[in-house]
Amino acid sequence: MADNSRRDFMGKVFGGWAALGGLGVLYAAKKTWDPLPSVKAAGFTTVDLSAAEPNVLNIEKWRGKPIFILKKTPDMEKSDRDVIVGKDRFLVAIGLCTHLGCIPAYRPDQKDFLCACHGGMFDTSGDNIKPPPPSPLVIPPFKVEGTKLVLGEEGPEYKKMKEAGITA
Ligand code: FES
Repeated sequence: MADNSRRDFMGKVFGGWAALGGLGVLYAAKKTWDPLPSVKAAGFTTVDLSAAEPNVLNIEKWRGKPIFILKKTPDMEKSDRDVIVGKDRFLVAIGLCTHLGCIPAYRPDQKDFLCACHGGMFDTSGDNIKPPPPSPLVIPPFKVEGTKLVLGEEGPEYKKMKEAGITA
């Protein structure tokens, strides 16, 4: 009898250890899947643009903000604000109206952005074309890596725009 309860006790102890070991393995696995703390802290978001369709607005999220990414069609006006990825030109901008921060809607037929809050408008380069927005849409820090865009990292293309004073 005493032996049986000892075996039960040992079984429970061993079971407990085994469960702890299992948790350890899960924890280690999770640590492997998670992005590196440095990547997380820096708040980078990588977007692959290889499948982007022209004149179709993609909205990504970066640091809690909507990011507009629009592949331009050949007839859309070229701009110093264009982000060149491969042979294509893109609008990349924080999707918040520079008047009071509403999210403008893209109108593919008119090829412009209309802010419903007070009627402000932006073109496909992010330039403000109808008041009240006082300035163009803001360009977030970005870096081009092949067909990918890394949001949050200041690549040479972004630095050039920043120096030219056209990011904000
Ligand atoms: Fe966009 Fe006022 S917030 S026009």
